[in-house]
Amino acid sequence: MDFTIPQDFGSYTETEHDVWRTLYARQRGILPGLACDAYLDGLEKLDLSRGIPDFENLSARLHALTGWRVVAVPGLVPDAVFFEHLANRRFPAGRFIRSPSQLDYLQEPDVFHDVFGHVPMLTDPVFADYMQAYGQGGMRALGLGALANLARLYWYTVEFGLLQTPSGLRIYGAGIVSSFTESGYALFDPAPVRLGFSLNRVMRTPYVIDDVQKMYFVVPSLRMLLNVTTSTDFAPLYTSLADAPDIAIGDILPGDPVFLPQADTRERFRAM
Ligand code: PHE
Ligand code: FE
Repeated sequence: MDFTIPQDFGSYTETEHDVWRTLYARQRGILPGLACDAYLDGLEKLDLSRGIPDFENLSARLHALTGWRVVAVPGLVPDAVFFEHLANRRFPAGRFIRSPSQLDYLQEPDVFHDVFGHVPMLTDPVFADYMQAYGQGGMRALGLGALANLARLYWYTVEFGLLQTPSGLRIYGAGIVSSFTESGYALFDPAPVRLGFSLNRVMRTPYVIDDVQKMYFVVPSLRMLLNVTTSTDFAPLYTSLADAPDIAIGDILPGDPVFLPQADTRERFRAM
């Protein structure tokens, strides 16, 4: 009933492992200087270079670090099931991998997105707690009929979040770190709007799932993200949001803190 399936690790073909290794080598090459230290440190610790990881083995290493495990699921699972997994420090990951012709673009998350994108951040103790708290908050939001608002928080943090660091903006969202085109774009392209994170602002902002983003939200630190989400009671927030109109993607309101694109990052990227 928790929708988990065996990963059936032995059934992956060499072509499938090759797709993983190609994607891995390409991302590993560009992410230093783009991804935050928590992500890069996690990636090193997990040693994911050799091919599609065996979830058993990966879970043993991850569990030793932060108590999380990776479980295989057939694809998207019902919301309640997804939240239940997160609340119990289990990350549900797809077992299938994209075909060699889909290296750059994919509609549905595959094992590369789910594992390469999400799991390194789960080695960070603060982010690990945030994901668990999100699962607990999800179960609560289901009961309150506020899933649409809470889903935006996941989208703009876990999937597409940016982090402020002393060396400039860095990416930590899984949708960005697992994408060759978006990992540079998110930091240096002049097109998207980058705003300072606020719970209320994020929950009023819709999102698109089928293109690079036109809007990103920047958290000052992962600790701050954890603290503000766990110390805020979302119930009154959901109530007030029910009457607040959405803010169109890309709109900047008076008082919104805007971050400029990272020109220096673009230069470094060009030089590679
Ligand atoms: N504090 C939130 C609530 O009251 C729960 C939550 C924590 C949601 C962290 C998301 C992330 O529902
Ligand atoms: Fe994802």
